[in-house]
Amino acid sequence: MAPGGGGAPAAPAAPPPPQKDTFTVLFDDKPIEVPKNLNLIDAAKLAGIDIPHFCYHPRLSVVGQCRMCLVEIEGIPKIQAACTTPLKDGLKVKTTTEKVRSSRAATMEFLLINHPLDCPICDQAGECTLQDNSFGYGHQLSNYDEAKRQYPTFDRTMIGPHVIADMTRCIQCTRCIRFTQEIAGTSELTFLDRGGRTLVWTHEGQALANEWSGCAADVCPVGALTTREFRFRSRVWYLEKTRSVCPGCNVGCNISIESKTDVVYRFLPRFNPGVNDYWLCDYGRFLSESLNDRDVLKATLRQGNSVQDVIVPSAIERIAAEIRKTVDGTGPAGLFFLGSSRLSNEENYLVRKIADHLSCPNRDVVVDKSKVRRIKRKTDWIQGDEAAPNFRGARDMGVVPGKNGHGLEAVLTGKASPEVIVVADADFAAAADDPAAVAALRRARFLAVCARTANALTRAADVVLPVASLAEKEGTFTNVEGRVQRFERAFLPRPPVRATWELLLQLATLLGYGDRNWTPADLLAAIAKDVPAYADIDPKNLEGGRLLKKGDFAWHGTL
Ligand code: SF4
Ligand code: SF4
Ligand code: FES
Repeated sequence: MAPGGGGAPAAPAAPPPPQKDTFTVLFDDKPIEVPKNLNLIDAAKLAGIDIPHFCYHPRLSVVGQCRMCLVEIEGIPKIQAACTTPLKDGLKVKTTTEKVRSSRAATMEFLLINHPLDCPICDQAGECTLQDNSFGYGHQLSNYDEAKRQYPTFDRTMIGPHVIADMTRCIQCTRCIRFTQEIAGTSELTFLDRGGRTLVWTHEGQALANEWSGCAADVCPVGALTTREFRFRSRVWYLEKTRSVCPGCNVGCNISIESKTDVVYRFLPRFNPGVNDYWLCDYGRFLSESLNDRDVLKATLRQGNSVQDVIVPSAIERIAAEIRKTVDGTGPAGLFFLGSSRLSNEENYLVRKIADHLSCPNRDVVVDKSKVRRIKRKTDWIQGDEAAPNFRGARDMGVVPGKNGHGLEAVLTGKASPEVIVVADADFAAAADDPAAVAALRRARFLAVCARTANALTRAADVVLPVASLAEKEGTFTNVEGRVQRFERAFLPRPPVRATWELLLQLATLLGYGDRNWTPADLLAAIAKDVPAYADIDPKNLEGGRLLKKGDFAWHGTL
């Protein structure tokens, strides 16, 4: 009909079919649905196919530099780099043909022309992509017998406070350069020289000294960049990996504690896109050594002017006796319980439950402010400014003054004068080493502290109970965004040291609350029942952490 003409109105156009957000890709004739925005290397992983690569990293720009990821694409005559091949519907990828095999082997041979093959003395051995790809895709023999390239003045050299460079091992993948440009944003690294003499170094006058410099060693697929702190300390295959959470601040980066025979050797980042992605800050990463403090305290009891070693159960019995005496005399208002932003949710929950059980409203938790620590995620940054991992969780657990109760401030200023003070962590904040604060706490008739290492507070205490490090216990922390994350135990503490939750549980049961057989998992289940914001927590399934609902994290309980 002519425009403007009469007649029946045209039927409305059918809505366009909904757009799929996946493509069907055929890997070696096997079709698989993959999200449209994936890189071909990651898409292949979904199909269970490993495409070897060096320069590709999921959070760095794609540069197609190393030519290790070669595949055949139907319809394209030449072999292609998988990392630079855009996904599209119906793409047919061949990863096992003779052409693919021989091309990858040629790349490996090329990369190894100049590689020193010093695996026996290289710290990367055992977790080296060059080693793995050489075994998986390389030739046994080389066609080259020329002398290998060397960089005598660029080996075994510190290029920053933590990173040591061995440029003879570099395969010029540029991952480290892109890390400093795209993640750290500091661009300290660059290529020097050209062609076969190319090497990575810092710009003149600069050091690789950004806040995340250890990550440059993480992304290096070979042993060209390693960290000073871990170098030559252990072969990596001897190390056990334990899933944990960084104790450095309230960002709560996921870490792998790597340990052997009860010694912690390093922290490595553990991928969690909701928290730290692939990264760790240097401050948190190099806290690993602090878990090895072997200056282990003993359980002690002060009798008059002398301090005696005692066994842990009798020290706890003494604390319970002093608490009972106060409750029977002055009443529960004569008690004060101090939780800690460094302790787990389960441990702080026990602090609150003991206080609740005794009808004591005096409890508190404090945190020191720290420098802002930031980690880049895929689309944003996460940051924290607290010097402890769990202030939020401790408050969620109810370690806050109850109705008419007193907090730490009142005790330190003398507004409140409790007779018995129980400090669940002698390192609760910088105040624990402040003589005025220690003197204020010492005004109590009886001062009991749980401590890992000696400080001013332990020297002033009537009872000291030695406690385990992060590596020696399990539990959960709640991070700055309200994500509840589990940390696991790497190894058992050596007696008389015990986890703080065990000591608090023993104290609780002596006072008539709880069950000696409870575990941290039981306590987390109790938290899920008792703390409304934690109702959705499934103690059996905390993979990746569980984000509390927004605005629903504060503890709502009342005494
Ligand atoms: S130092 Fe490592 S990450 Fe950097 S270009 Fe060389 S091999 Fe790649
Ligand atoms: S940002 Fe905080 S939690 Fe993350 S590694 Fe650094 S100190 Fe640890
Ligand atoms: S991973 Fe594709 S070229 Fe390096």
